Amino acid sequence: MIMHPKIFVAGHRGMVGSAIVRQLLVQGHPAERIVTRTHTELDLTEQAAVRAFFAAERPDQVYLAAAKVGGIHANNTYPAEFIYQNLMIEANIVDAAFRNGVKKLLFLGSSCIYPKLAPQPMREDALLTGALEPTNEPYAIAKIAGIKLCESYNRQYGQSHGLDYRSVMPTNIYGPGDNYHPQNSHVIPALIRRFHEAKVSQAPGVTIWGTGTPKREFLYVDDMAAASVHVMHLPQATYLQHTQSMLTHINVGCGHDLTIKELAETIALVVEYSGEITFDASKPDGAPRKLMDSSRLNALGYQCQVGLVAGLEAAYQDFLINHAAHT
Ligand SMILES: NC(=O)c1ccc[n+]([C@@H]2O[C@H](COP(=O)([O-])OP(=O)(O)OC[C@H]3O[C@@H](n4cnc5c(N)ncnc54)[C@H](OP(=O)(O)O)[C@@H]3O)[C@@H](O)[C@H]2O)c1
Repeated sequence: MIMHPKIFVAGHRGMVGSAIVRQLLVQGHPAERIVTRTHTELDLTEQAAVRAFFAAERPDQVYLAAAKVGGIHANNTYPAEFIYQNLMIEANIVDAAFRNGVKKLLFLGSSCIYPKLAPQPMREDALLTGALEPTNEPYAIAKIAGIKLCESYNRQYGQSHGLDYRSVMPTNIYGPGDNYHPQNSHVIPALIRRFHEAKVSQAPGVTIWGTGTPKREFLYVDDMAAASVHVMHLPQATYLQHTQSMLTHINVGCGHDLTIKELAETIALVVEYSGEITFDASKPDGAPRKLMDSSRLNALGYQCQVGLVAGLEAAYQDFLINHAAHT
């Protein structure tokens, strides 16, 4: 009989955490071997509670997909919460995992760890080579600390305790479970909502902030989940062969980007909104380009599966079922 590992998915109600649970189930992992706790049941910033949870549950593996996440506005307004909560969540989980015999852990970070002016596409070795984007610096610093926590525990306890803690850095993610908040959502959910509302109200046009020329990369959430499980399952020798002990993180992207104008036109097609799309060039654009170099992930055997149109169609269906009625 196969003994499946007991897996703790931290943040299982979030967009990415819920997709990781779905992915594990699709791959045949038994539901009873997946451990979850809601934020109310277990506040991951509380060290004693996290230690008690690990001591009681003794999971074999951990996917660390819990984080305080938000857009530019939230990051600017609550920088203390972003740095404190994310540092605490990571430090508590990594240390409690180590103390309770967890051999395998996957930490989820973000592309914002890279310097604001990193060469494009951004390679893993761009980490700590320059100043960060100031708006989300506290969040990015916490995410960099998460990578360094995993690396430091590996370096100190890897040999003696068989630790193998890994990190993945995804690009912009979208899909079912996304946040459609009117003032505080990422570009894809924001545009889905705006085009949908314009369609329903038969508005003649939609105006989008900026020139529409910046280029961005997007990853469907189920691809992120599948890539996470793939990286978790890689044999240690393979992982070590493609990483260095102080440069262990792996970018997760689909390898190509498109302009905001192209994105908006694609979303309008998916939503079936036929009004005019205009751009307000007096509003800020952000960086001209943000693309990950995902060749490390590709060399490790993972290529994204879901194309943008198929992903946007699934995201729009999720919006219609779970969000449109509540607007
Ligand atoms: N979404 C993206 O585009 C994107 C891009 C790159 C990287 N990522 C990374 O992927 C990871 C997951 O992101 P996501 O988009 O899935 O975020 P999300 O939807 O906001 O999910 C985060 C989850 O963490 C939980 N959580 C937060 N603080 C907690 C605490 N103190 N104790 C217990 N649970 C807590 C949240 O629960 P509550 O909601 O109840 O607080 C939520 O279920 C993050 O590390 C993020 O940096 C996401």
